[in-house]
Amino acid sequence: MDTKVQLVGESPKFQEVLRTIELVSVTDVAVLLTGETGTGKEVMAQAIHNKSPRKQRQMITINCAALPDELAESLLFGHKKGAFIEATENNIGYISQARSSTLFLDEICELSLSIQAKLLRFLEYGEVQPVGQTHTRKYDVRIIAASNKSLSEEVKKGNFRADLFYRLNIIPVELPALREREGDTSLLMDYFFRDLVQKQHQTAPSLTKVAVKQLTQYNWPGNIRELRNFCERMFILFSGKEIDVTNLPYEIRSYQPSKESGRGYASPFSLPEAGVQLESVEVDLIQQALHNTNGNKSRAARLLGLTRDTFLYRLKKYSINI
Ligand SMILES: Nc1ncnc2c1ncn2[C@@H]1O[C@H](COP(=O)(O)OP(=O)(O)OP(=O)(O)O)[C@@H](O)[C@H]1O
Ligand SMILES: [Mg+2]
Repeated sequence: MDTKVQLVGESPKFQEVLRTIELVSVTDVAVLLTGETGTGKEVMAQAIHNKSPRKQRQMITINCAALPDELAESLLFGHKKGAFIEATENNIGYISQARSSTLFLDEICELSLSIQAKLLRFLEYGEVQPVGQTHTRKYDVRIIAASNKSLSEEVKKGNFRADLFYRLNIIPVELPALREREGDTSLLMDYFFRDLVQKQHQTAPSLTKVAVKQLTQYNWPGNIRELRNFCERMFILFSGKEIDVTNLPYEIRSYQPSKESGRGYASPFSLPEAGVQLESVEVDLIQQALHNTNGNKSRAARLLGLTRDTFLYRLKKYSINI
């Protein structure tokens, strides 16, 4: 990952996160980052490290989900030559590599319960016992952990040690989902497009108002990762051109926020306070479709999302002659 990070966002929820990390980055306390996939937990861990007095040294990142169970202990805590058949050399382990720096334990809930116990010991006393060694060593390492599963839920299910959870949860930082960060989608899009212009030396696409509206209403289940991928795709396909709502990927253009989400409908039409006569709106739209297609019934039907038969039925129903 690029170790330079820019934290883009002005929404109150995101600003609150920034205030917290500003305070914690200068300390040595453990930080637990939670949040849905793609909300920027790894980026935030790097940002905390970069603002900390440990920034001169590289942050060591471990993806706990990718640690094979049987090797996890020796990879984390190190091993002595001869401790097991494959241990042909001494190995210092990730924790030792991270001394005077930060160890980022990503997807921490994937660690086995026995490794969790050893990690707790390290967090409590700073002590590490490499596999095959009889004595312990002490290292000064700052821990940042991340999980996209709720660790308290994992504790309830018996998958995560409660004592380790409390030890890590001293400063919990919940990264908000993009849909909760009002106004930040546009800011991030501008940021990604600017970045792409610099890297690819091409002109950024522009967006119609309706497209922007749909993009800000979309719920972005993949959060910033999804937004970034979207920007890259649009940049390549529409460099220097205008993107309208019809050019958006299907999952975005067809997204309709539920009324309960409190963010209104994605519809480009808004119902006037006084209401409407639905039938006259329908007649009007049919006439507009016919007008725009010079009376071509098949194309007019397509514009309204109707089959030709349904369209003909409605022409007859409303006695519309062309
Ligand atoms: N502030 C940011 N600035 C630029 N890009 C960002 C930012 N935050 C996140 N991203 C982008 O979003 C992607 C996802 O971020 P990150 O990997 O940190 O998320 P995550 O929360 O760790 O996701 P997961 O739970 O799936 O591991 C990154 O590849 C990065 O490109
Ligand atoms: Mg991650």
